[in-house]
Amino acid sequence: MKLQVLFLVLVASAHAVSDHAPEPGPATAHAAKPGPPAPVHPDKDDSPAHAHPAKPSPPAHTQPAQPSPPVVSTSSPTSSAQPSESSPATVLPPPDALDSGNSAKWIAPGANGGKSWSNAFAKAQAVVMQMTIEEMANLTTGTDGLCVGNTGSVPRLNIPSLCLEDGPVGVRGAHGVSQFPAGLTSAATWDRDLIYARSKAMGQEFHDQGVHIPLAPVTGGPLGRSVLNGRAWEGTFADPYACGEASYQAVAGMLNSSVAPVAKHFIAYEQETFRDQYSAFPAPDQAAQLPISSNVDDKTTHEVYLWAFTEAVRAGTSHIMCSYNRINDTHACANAYSLNYLLKTELNFQGSVVSDWGGQWDNVDSARNGLDMGMPGFGYGGFFGSFWGSNMVDMVNNGTITEQVLRDKVIRILTSYYHLGMDINPLPDVGFNALFPLSYFPDRFRNVRKPGTTDLIREIGSSSVTLLKNTGGLPLNNPQRIAVLGNDASDNVLGVNACGSYGSGCDYQNLNGTLTTGGGSGSSFAPYIITPIDALKQRAIETGAEIGAVISQSGSAAETAAISELLRTADATLVFVNRYSAEAVDIPDLSIPEDQDFLIAQAVNYSSNVVLVIHSTGVVDIEKWVENENVTAIVMAYLPGQEAGGGLIPVLYGDISPSGKLPWTWGKSIDDYPPNGIIDDPVFSPEVNFTEGAFIDYRWFDQKNITPRYEFGFGLSYTTFDYSELVIDCTGSSDNTSYMATAEKFAESDGTNSLYDVLFTASAVITNSGNVIGSEVAQLYISIPEEGQPIRMLRGFDKVKDIKAGACATASFAIRRKDVSVWSVVDQQWYVPNGTFTIAVGGSSRNLPLSATWTP
Ligand SMILES: *[C@@H]1O[C@H](CO)[C@@H](O)[C@H](O)[C@H]1NC(C)=O
Ligand SMILES: *[C@@H]1O[C@H](CO)[C@@H](O)[C@H](O)[C@H]1NC(C)=O
Ligand SMILES: *[C@@H]1O[C@H](CO)[C@@H](O)[C@H](O)[C@H]1NC(C)=O
Ligand SMILES: *[C@@H]1O[C@H](CO)[C@@H](O)[C@H](O)[C@H]1NC(C)=O
Ligand SMILES: *[C@@H]1O[C@H](CO)[C@@H](O)[C@H](O)[C@H]1NC(C)=O
Ligand SMILES: *[C@@H]1O[C@H](CO)[C@@H](O)[C@H](O)[C@H]1NC(C)=O
Ligand SMILES: *[C@@H]1O[C@H](CO)[C@@H](O)[C@H](O)[C@H]1NC(C)=O
Ligand SMILES: *[C@@H]1O[C@H](CO)[C@@H](O)[C@H](O)[C@H]1NC(C)=O
Ligand SMILES: *[C@@H]1O[C@H](CO)[C@@H](O)[C@H](O)[C@H]1NC(C)=O
Ligand SMILES: *[C@@H]1O[C@H](CO)[C@@H](O)[C@H](O)[C@H]1NC(C)=O
Repeated sequence: MKLQVLFLVLVASAHAVSDHAPEPGPATAHAAKPGPPAPVHPDKDDSPAHAHPAKPSPPAHTQPAQPSPPVVSTSSPTSSAQPSESSPATVLPPPDALDSGNSAKWIAPGANGGKSWSNAFAKAQAVVMQMTIEEMANLTTGTDGLCVGNTGSVPRLNIPSLCLEDGPVGVRGAHGVSQFPAGLTSAATWDRDLIYARSKAMGQEFHDQGVHIPLAPVTGGPLGRSVLNGRAWEGTFADPYACGEASYQAVAGMLNSSVAPVAKHFIAYEQETFRDQYSAFPAPDQAAQLPISSNVDDKTTHEVYLWAFTEAVRAGTSHIMCSYNRINDTHACANAYSLNYLLKTELNFQGSVVSDWGGQWDNVDSARNGLDMGMPGFGYGGFFGSFWGSNMVDMVNNGTITEQVLRDKVIRILTSYYHLGMDINPLPDVGFNALFPLSYFPDRFRNVRKPGTTDLIREIGSSSVTLLKNTGGLPLNNPQRIAVLGNDASDNVLGVNACGSYGSGCDYQNLNGTLTTGGGSGSSFAPYIITPIDALKQRAIETGAEIGAVISQSGSAAETAAISELLRTADATLVFVNRYSAEAVDIPDLSIPEDQDFLIAQAVNYSSNVVLVIHSTGVVDIEKWVENENVTAIVMAYLPGQEAGGGLIPVLYGDISPSGKLPWTWGKSIDDYPPNGIIDDPVFSPEVNFTEGAFIDYRWFDQKNITPRYEFGFGLSYTTFDYSELVIDCTGSSDNTSYMATAEKFAESDGTNSLYDVLFTASAVITNSGNVIGSEVAQLYISIPEEGQPIRMLRGFDKVKDIKAGACATASFAIRRKDVSVWSVVDQQWYVPNGTFTIAVGGSSRNLPLSATWTP
């Protein structure tokens, strides 16, 4: 039974559960996975990390180490060897220059409740002061229970076991809940209100299922450094600013439903390949292989990878999950620099750090270096490593850590519990059993869905739909003979949840039917799925249309005959294709699966009005089809969740004009993106150097002058918008968005101002110059006058909704000090460079008709 549980959590072991093993797409390109890994972590301190061959000794320091941040050393930093700018092909200093695993250098700061949690902090502190060491250790350590993670309890003080449950599209493993659109889909709406509302609605379902701590949202880990990342769809934008905005809203929304969000995965977690010993490629010694080390320079850390986590902290996230990867050679969950310093000192984070499942490698280093809650601890029979618990008691008793360090962990864990009032309004009992997540109709069942949530999911679907090409195929002009091709238009013939709670623990054949979510712990059951065909049929009742659909895609002669017969007389041909990906496996290339590609080939052969609809976890290569004159429209519909067709079809018919825009750059080929995106060299200690620095996604394309197929921020509408009257209003206002205050340093600090003060507000008039009502995502990009900065960076967006034909509306963008700052590696602080800033506004990163200048 225990093993069954493991399969649900681990993609790698899920391969073992189905003995016809090839995994969808990606995995077929890889060697088959071995059977379930043996429990590798002994229940004591000689954890694998220690049992492994010693790390090679660090390379000699050929350059001075990075200046110590002020908290550690007050001496004035003088290094000039640290790259003072990020440009493609940054040369990185030795990864261990910071001594990231040294808790004597990077000291754990005690929590104090920060700006908004002082009452809860005092309450937590008072309760924790009464606890024994055993009781405190209990709360830091996972144990068995109904949820994917369960802390120990403290019955004497009436503190229950806290339930932690995946994940970012809904309550995984539970029934009676919704399957929400993916984070990616919410991003494509560029609508802060919808991102907030989605998270709030999801939070309500977690709450009502008895989950204290949802393992969501994904706030920039992964951010999308590589377009081949298997799980970037769980997150949002491949841009730190936009991802930061989404992260802020997602955290705030969840808090509003009184559950404690976990912002994840911290930090520089940008590939699945070699992320941990459970899902590694076969390596010389797989059980001993270390996770990938992300080696990233200080400037890029601050300007790119830390940004969105900072927004999650400002919004008041309760917890942060440390990631599987190593950072600069030190495990992310035992990294004193990233946890004790960056997170808890610089960002002044007052909550707790939770390990990813299997991200903890040992007792001592993790305890000293900033981890507060080890998950799943002794759950799953200790499969992920049974750390802490009684070992924590020993560590305090034998002086490895002080009692104060342990107390701080427990205070951090309990502060949000009190802040959210969980002591006064206890959550209901857990309404599901994550250990036995039956695909259908479990005994332990509670329906917590609210009617309005269906409308919200549908609205996010409609608002995310991104129209990429349109030579007249859309909106559908009331066609009477509609041909539909592709299994992606239809139900999964094996049942709606045939892929299990993991969405990937099944064999490839189970993955048919319309793609509504990706795979891995970020998937969840759907109560039902409204497929595109379902919604088209409803439409046909009103319009009198006939619908012919060929949903088989075997490539057989009979099928081809059926397709040619169907398409010969169709007014419009809708072709549905998809590309799936999942946690734990990166995708090998950008291709559309062969059978679906063949479907498009047939469609364009027999029809001159082909509308191509793509459900995908990310970019796919459409170069073969994009210029084809018979392809009259291309639509990206992402991963829409349970109301799939309900959100899409009204857009195809023109009831709603498309208003989604791409949250990343759609390149023509994998070669357009920065090289070295995913490292798959199966060595003992794999490393990836983030040599492109801050130049990911559109910043790379701009810098290298590469023309993408569709640029970041791109998306067409059924109407057109004109931009005019860019005005910069230099009236500032003080920060009113930091629910929690960071301790980030900045050059202009006078003790009263903030990095998040608004320095100026830009506004522009958007006129609907077409014939139908529509919404427009206006975007603002800034060029910062400093050496080594990207050509332009997104620093504002405003979705101006429902502008009537001929009418106009104003988009406005509040620009904060941080938005015009760069990170000084030498001074370890943000500063606003002198010089002239260019502010450009328009409808995408490459369509910026308005510009103005601003000087500090
Ligand atoms: C630790 O947690 C377990 C599981 O909730 C509970 O049974 C036990 O009583 C707790 N121990 C202490 C010392 O409170
Ligand atoms: C949620 O937000 C509403 C509107 O701002 C507010 O009135 C309410 O108190 C919030 N609820 C919680 C639990 O934070
Ligand atoms: C990684 O190491 C480099 C070189 O020492 C340092 O500049 C950078 O800040 C480190 N990044 C993180 C996230 O630890
Ligand atoms: C203290 O206890 C921990 C946990 O059992 C153990 O790993 C460590 O080696 C011990 N240290 C000493 C100095 O005894
Ligand atoms: C859907 O799954 C069934 C059952 O495995 C399989 O026979 C069929 O070929 C699949 N259909 C498509 C279009 O992949
Ligand atoms: C395209 O049509 C031609 C003529 O009917 C046929 O020979 C060919 O096989 C078709 N190709 C595809 C991919 O269906
Ligand atoms: C477009 O479709 C027509 C049939 O409607 C076909 O004759 C023609 O070859 C197709 N063109 C392309 C470029 O596939
Ligand atoms: C990463 O950079 C270091 C230092 O520049 C270099 O020694 C190492 O070979 C690089 N690793 C990879 C995988 O490129
Ligand atoms: C913050 O201040 C701005 C400008 O004064 C104002 O428009 C906005 O509504 C305020 N927001 C909050 C959350 O108070
Ligand atoms: C900007 O110019 C002022 C006046 O010359 C100078 O004091 C300040 O240090 C400069 N700031 C930066 C970031 O170079």
